[in-house]
Amino acid sequence: MAMRRSVGAAILFSVHLISTFAVILRTTSSSLWANEYESTELSCLIESISTNNPRIEWKKITNGKPSYVYFEKHISRDLENRAYLKEPATLVITNVTRSDTAQYRCEVTAHLDQRTFDEVLIDLVVRVRPVGPRCGVPRAVPVGRPADLRCSEGEGFPKSRYHWFRNREEIPLDPRSNPRFFNSSYTLNRETGKLSFRVVWKEDSGEYHCVAKNEAGHAECAAQTMEVYEVSLVGKVLGALLLVGALLVVTLGFCYAYKGGYFVQRSEARDNYKASESKDPVDCITPEDEAGFRHKSSFII
Ligand SMILES: *[C@@H]1O[C@H](CO)[C@@H](O)[C@H](O)[C@H]1NC(C)=O
Ligand SMILES: *[C@@H]1O[C@H](CO)[C@@H](O)[C@H](O)[C@H]1NC(C)=O
Repeated sequence: MAMRRSVGAAILFSVHLISTFAVILRTTSSSLWANEYESTELSCLIESISTNNPRIEWKKITNGKPSYVYFEKHISRDLENRAYLKEPATLVITNVTRSDTAQYRCEVTAHLDQRTFDEVLIDLVVRVRPVGPRCGVPRAVPVGRPADLRCSEGEGFPKSRYHWFRNREEIPLDPRSNPRFFNSSYTLNRETGKLSFRVVWKEDSGEYHCVAKNEAGHAECAAQTMEVYEVSLVGKVLGALLLVGALLVVTLGFCYAYKGGYFVQRSEARDNYKASESKDPVDCITPEDEAGFRHKSSFII
């Protein structure tokens, strides 16, 4: 019985001996995501080793160029006070920043092993939470006109996606999916943050705000009011009349100035052409025409 046990132990021991003549590393995650200002572990586990004090080094590889992160038992200046080594060779960064996004290499050299060197590569990507987006909401839009609402921020990584809200209720991608937005003419782009109304209706009035979101967090802008107003018939007529009046004043002013010879002196100075005697090239309105014009314009309205 005792004999059999010792034979078994001897076999086990020799298997163990063969495997421990090589340094073999392993990592739990070779592709790692971390949120900015949080802690992360770049694991470097030693599967087998026979050397007592192996040399452990960590390098950071940015754009193909390696630099030391951990060398001769010291954390480099870049990570000083925010990283440490955890047994056996794991690198813990307690407060990652966006500039830590890079490839990291754990290297272990064991002089007494047959295979004296092994390494593991870890890709670290740091997510950055969005900052408060800048939002543009038109204050007042007449019924039936288009309107664009904009929202964007530039810090978030991965890139933020945008969500719009009206009176604190999220605006769905498809207006027809919610009875409260059913008749609205908008299209919503989550990537660009643009909310475009082809035409606005009274029902589109409200307090609008936007939220920028990614896997690291979210941020929003303050709500802004968009008012959709009716242009009354009286307003339309008044506006048209004002326009016609202004046109009349400009045209008549130009004609009287021309007839009064205001432009003659300048053209005579330029060449000897007798402008005052030539046939009037500007078709000025006579008082009878004026009446006709007025009549026609009111007809147009
Ligand atoms: C992490 O680092 C940032 C600046 O790099 C600092 O503002 C913040 O306070 C740090 N957080 C912790 C928990 O140390
Ligand atoms: C949408 O518009 C139609 C016709 O203009 C109207 O009958 C209907 O009640 C509106 N629906 C909503 C939910 O406002």
